[in-house]
Amino acid sequence: MRTPLVVANWKMHGTCAEARTLALGVREGLQGVEGVEVVLCPPFTALAAVGGVLAGSRLGLGAQDAHWEAAGAFTGAVSPAMLVELGCRVVILGHSERRQHFGERDEMINQKVRAALAHGLTPILCVGEREEERERGATFAVVETQLRGGLAGLGAAEVARVVLAYEPVWAIGTGRNATPEQAVEVHAFLRGLLGEAASKEVAQAARILYGGSVKPDNVGPLIAEPEIDGGLVGGASLRAPEFAAIVRTVGAAGGGRP
Ligand code: PGA
Repeated sequence: MRTPLVVANWKMHGTCAEARTLALGVREGLQGVEGVEVVLCPPFTALAAVGGVLAGSRLGLGAQDAHWEAAGAFTGAVSPAMLVELGCRVVILGHSERRQHFGERDEMINQKVRAALAHGLTPILCVGEREEERERGATFAVVETQLRGGLAGLGAAEVARVVLAYEPVWAIGTGRNATPEQAVEVHAFLRGLLGEAASKEVAQAARILYGGSVKPDNVGPLIAEPEIDGGLVGGASLRAPEFAAIVRTVGAAGGGRP
């Protein structure tokens, strides 16, 4: 059975003071909600503040990226060990904005996935096609390359610890979410690839999140699909009532997925 997961990706939003207020709002807004796991991923600078707010709650803390080395001359980078020290359990890797604006390639993302796993973090590996790629029918090829690249060299036990997020680039921050049908066909395809990369059991137990303009008013039909195990939420995660509404809908859709 797969427990649904909703992850808030705050991106580069929020001073420590703002992040603390938002985290408090989310914590309060989610009291009593069951059947869903929730992780907040603030900017690095707000991790300690948000971790303090979440202490003693069931909400988890995560980061938006990590370097693959434990330490060294990598100006501006943050290592997995530093994230673990701050209480992070999860790290988003290979987000399309990292690929687009920071030149991240599958090989680099693979190094990050391995480092995160080695430090006990749960990587959320993001894959997704650009609009032009979808239009020319390359969606499956693109996500296959990203998935195989991101998981290269991992054993089945390691693959089992990875969460996937399917985020079509054309749906991120655009207000245009993928339809449940569009998401389901990619999720099912990714699950099939996980079966090849690891095993049928690992694929069946893996959580595959959908991301891209998830909002309170579109999450219902998405989470009604057993293939969709939760959401990676950007814009709507910056407003506590909206984010709480999304999480409540996911929780209410019923705990374990078959
Ligand atoms: P969005 O972002 O919800 O604002 O589309 C999702 C993401 O980038 O993870």
